[in-house]
Amino acid sequence: MEPCLEIRCLSAVLPNERRVLRSVSLAVQPGEVRALVGESGAGKTMIGKAVLGVLPKSVRIVEGEMLIEGEDLGRLDAKARRTLIGARTALIPQDPLTALNPSRRIGPQMTDRLVRILGWSGEKADKRIRQLLDEVQIREPERVLKCYPHELSGGMRQRVLIAAAFAAEPRLIVADEPTTALDVTVQKQILRLIAQLQRDHGTAILFVTHDLGVVAKISQKVSVLYAGKVVEEAQTADLFASPQHPYTRALIAATPRYTDPYASLKPVDETVLAGLADEIAAADRAWRPSHG
Ligand SMILES: Nc1ncnc2c1ncn2[C@@H]1O[C@H](COP(=O)(O)OP(=O)(O)OP(=O)(O)O)[C@@H](O)[C@H]1O
Ligand SMILES: [Mg+2]
Repeated sequence: MEPCLEIRCLSAVLPNERRVLRSVSLAVQPGEVRALVGESGAGKTMIGKAVLGVLPKSVRIVEGEMLIEGEDLGRLDAKARRTLIGARTALIPQDPLTALNPSRRIGPQMTDRLVRILGWSGEKADKRIRQLLDEVQIREPERVLKCYPHELSGGMRQRVLIAAAFAAEPRLIVADEPTTALDVTVQKQILRLIAQLQRDHGTAILFVTHDLGVVAKISQKVSVLYAGKVVEEAQTADLFASPQHPYTRALIAATPRYTDPYASLKPVDETVLAGLADEIAAADRAWRPSHG
């Protein structure tokens, strides 16, 4: 089966030539949830943004390929790339408040994307949005559609954005820490909801998180990222049963009971981090960009 998303040897640099992504490779199969886990600054969001074609201007891709359902994004012109990404992918963002336009009502914000990117009629888009609001268990769609973002709770705003993400039937959703900005009690509901819609719609998800408990709950496969480098990838169950890389072992050890959100996080072992720094320095010394 052709992967829904394939990233091959992707490297990206900042203006000072420091690499923020180091030969990243990963594939997401249709209907699969792939977790991308790592500490703050590891480059998780950068990968998500690369896939969605919204990297900051200061970040330059210097090697590698990205394919969406077999189509190489690098071979398309900017317009065709935007069209492809718009039609096949969607984002569930970390912060639902900043992802919404504060001065527009929820309804038009949700339907706009379907009309603009997919060329649907207003009527079709409206019907679809109401259907999705029902799926994300919003009980008073009429009221919610007329609300401004600040009139909804954080959990409700995230439900709205989840509905918007699934509405266009994307093949791939990038979910970037979609529960981090929410209350702990709401986090669980939102996670369950994403898992439910993912199953119902058969959508592949690249699920970005720093939380191993979330990885265990939602994903079938996982890539562990450190300093822009994938240090290990595995089936999720195998990763917890027999982590191979010292960093993965340290990360698991640093989360005493990874299923308990209240457990305190210990810092990752210093010697492991020193070993990782050596590994990354060696990779950088050996690295020559293949083009760019
Ligand atoms: N707009 C930007 N311009 C330049 N460098 C950036 C920019 N955004 C992030 N970076 C740098 O790129 C690296 C990866 O950042 P990224 O935001 O992808 O990390 P992350 O894994 O998503 O972290 P977090 O868990 O905090 O969200 C970091 O070193 C960061 O400082
Ligand atoms: Mg991030």
